[in-house]
Formats: sequence, structure tokens, C-alpha cells
Amino acid sequence: MNALQFIETSIEEGIGYIFLNRPKQLNALNRKMIREIVSAMEAYDLDLRVKVIVLAGNGKAFSAGADIEEMVNDNPVSLELMNQFADWDRISLVKKPVIGAVKGFVFGGGFELALSCDFLIAASDTQFSFPEVTLGVMPGAGGTQRLTKLVGKTKALEWILTAERIKAKTALQYGFINKIVAPELLMEEAVDLAGKIAKQPPLAVRLIKESVNKAVDHSLYEGMQFERKNFYLLFASKDQKEGMSAFVEKRKPNFTGG
Ligand code: HXC
Repeated sequence: MNALQFIETSIEEGIGYIFLNRPKQLNALNRKMIREIVSAMEAYDLDLRVKVIVLAGNGKAFSAGADIEEMVNDNPVSLELMNQFADWDRISLVKKPVIGAVKGFVFGGGFELALSCDFLIAASDTQFSFPEVTLGVMPGAGGTQRLTKLVGKTKALEWILTAERIKAKTALQYGFINKIVAPELLMEEAVDLAGKIAKQPPLAVRLIKESVNKAVDHSLYEGMQFERKNFYLLFASKDQKEGMSAFVEKRKPNFTGG
């Protein structure tokens, strides 16, 4: 990996960490930063030491959104030619589970990055918002689609049109975060969840993630056909033999990832 300018990464006990690292700018996301985040996720996806990815922010905020200074002079032609969202699209191709550990401001592109994660653990001081409308624009990295799929049209439209700051409690009530924790316990809780998933057989984990994601934008029938194929496929794995034999033999399984 090239020298990282805007993120920090490390691997520990099966977890690949990515920390957004522009704390003075509240982790405002510039384009290079997004490329660094996506490249780190892709590297972790291929790294057998990593079972789960944890994405978090250094400083007091997860992210105050896309870097407005970088966007201020953009025009439709420059945006089309730059095709920056191709980088964002790669996030949804990551096969390993991604846990977002969020706190403070989770705004705009930062909210969209959070919604691209598979799980969100939020510190109690977290505020989510789409302030784009106040800048004369709109969410562009999936916000109008992902939030609507998660909470329905009624609230999504209200929140995106008013730029309301959504508290962690409301986020939990509407089901787009998994858990609220005291700010000082944020990483501990994310690591605890990551540890639970890291213990599971990795092939089953990836095919489950892939199958659940199918439910989001395919019909029930198509999703079920896909699920079935993945179910069959897991019977070709060593971990299926091991997991089921261990149950029958009344012992703990020893998963190897094969
Ligand atoms: C560039 C930003 C920034 C941003 C904060 N900063 N957010 N710089 N882009 N999105 C910078 C500030 O300019 C400031 O730099 C420093 O970070 C600290 O911010 P303050 O404003 O001094 O902090 P505070 O008073 O605590 O207010 C926090 C805040 C406010 C409420 C989050 O910073 C804010 O409203 N930020 C913009 C939020 C936003 O509109 N996000 C959506 C962006 S559009 P200096 O140098 O002055 O210290 C978007 C579109 C996504 O995300 C499209 C897809 C990619």
C-alpha cells in the first residue's frame, strides 16, 4: 500500500481497522481519502488475517461530510469526467463484514459512508444529518436510496429535506443503527461485535452477507434462489463438515476458513 495521507490502518486479532484521520477538519472526506478507504477495504478483503473490518474516525467526529472546499468549483462536466462515485460503488463489493463505529457528527457523505457499512455502533453523542439541501445540493453517494430503503420514504424525505440532526436514540428507533453505547465504550463495543463475527466460519459469513444484501434490491423469489445456491455451495466447504461433525460428536468446532 502507498503511504496513507488521510487514514490510519492496522490489523489486530482478525480485525482490519480503518481510522479516518483528518480530525482538524472533522474527517471531511476528500476524494483521495475515499480512495484510501476503499483501497484499504479491498486489501483487507484479500488478506486472510482479516475476518472483519472496523471503520471509525479519529477525533471528535466520525465525519462532517464530503470536503466542501474541494467541491465548491465543480461542474457537471468535471463531475462526470472524474467519476468519483465509481470509488464509492466499490464499497458495496467488499465481501467481509464492515462495522462502522460512529460518534459526533455523521453528516452528508459521512452519513453515506456510515450507511455503506453492514453494522453501525453509535456513541450516544452521535448526530446524523444530510445537510446537502442547505448547500443547494443533495446526497450523491447513495443517501437518498440507502436511507429510504432502511427507514421508508416518510422519514427519509423529511430528514433529507429539512437537514434535521437525528439523534442516536432516534436512529436506533428507526433501525438504521445496531446499538448505542457510551462514547468511551465505542471501540470496545465494536471490537466485541467484530470478535463474535470473526469466530464464525468465514465462508459462511461471506455468503450470508451476500445473500442478505440480495434481499435489499431483488425480488423475494430471486433472493431466495440466490440464497439456495449459496446454501448448497457451503456444503463444499471444510468448515461445513467440521461444524456439523463437531455438533454430532458433541465437541467444539475448529474452523479453518476452507
Ligand atoms: C470541509 C469542513 C467540513 C466539510 C467541517 N469542516 N466540515 N471542511 N468540508 N464538510 C472544517 C471547518 O471548515 C473547520 O475548518 C473545521 O472543519 C472544524 O469545523 P467547525 O465548523 O469549526 O466546527 P463546529 O463549529 O463544531 O461545526 C461542526 C459542523 C460544521 C456543524 C459539522 O463544520 C458544518 O456544518 N460542516 C459542514 C457539514 C456539511 O454541510 N456536510 C455535508 C457536505 S456535502 P477551519 O479551517 O475553519 O478550522 C456532502 C455531499 C456528499 O457531504 C456527496 C457525496 C460525496
